[in-house]
Amino acid sequence: MSETRETPQTILQRKGREPIAALTAYDFPMAKLLDDAGVPLLLVGDSLGMVVLGYPDTTLVTLDEMAHHVRAVARAKPSGLIAADLPFKTYETPSQAVESAKRLIDAGAEAVKAEGAQAILPQLEAIHAVGIPFLGHLGMLPQHVLEEGGYRIKGRDEAERGALLADARALGQAGAFGIVLELVTPSVAAEITAAIDIPTIGIGSGSDCDGQILVTTDLLGTSPDFIPKHVRPDELLRERMLGIIRGWRETLPKPSATRE
Ligand code: KIV
Repeated sequence: MSETRETPQTILQRKGREPIAALTAYDFPMAKLLDDAGVPLLLVGDSLGMVVLGYPDTTLVTLDEMAHHVRAVARAKPSGLIAADLPFKTYETPSQAVESAKRLIDAGAEAVKAEGAQAILPQLEAIHAVGIPFLGHLGMLPQHVLEEGGYRIKGRDEAERGALLADARALGQAGAFGIVLELVTPSVAAEITAAIDIPTIGIGSGSDCDGQILVTTDLLGTSPDFIPKHVRPDELLRERMLGIIRGWRETLPKPSATRE
């Protein structure tokens, strides 16, 4: 655990100086673990829908569920900054966005993240106007998976490249303290990183971002059904956990009636 507490400003100041390590946290023990490992940015991601709650995607996650997990993470009092995802359909208008962001802040988040940029600019400006720090999220937007029909790499053609650059600039102007770039082609992610003053935090977007973020259960190899290609866990911790549980089960004392 580090002495100094991270803030949106300290995260922003890492750009060009120090890589930003960000990981998802969904509960108290995970937040403690990340804190002990010195992770400066903890995201209560709506990926918890899949890796904790068993939903098929993030679109079913509710604000109540997010607030519940944010409270658990906040109880760990990590030195790292706690950001939380605004779930799907909870930031449709500026007033709804502010109300939803306040719910997550009241639960213990110190910043929120929303997917998109120019398409939700009034909502982001409203969040910024009430003093709530926010992270942007561009590229593949998991909350749009149903309308897009899958998870697809972004930035492959000139139109997508231009739109991503314009969106990244709009987020910087709207006051974001960083942008998650998910499944953006490495060359476009590098171009965005060089073009803006706020840090980019990549996931499956190559190594030329200001930081990297992963779903922690992917990194540890404990995600239940699927580990994305951009993550190569050194070891599947799930296999070790299975061994421990099976070992324990097999050594249970037999009921006395079956002993002889
Ligand atoms: O919900 C999530 O886990 C995310 C990723 C970018 C890490 O948004």
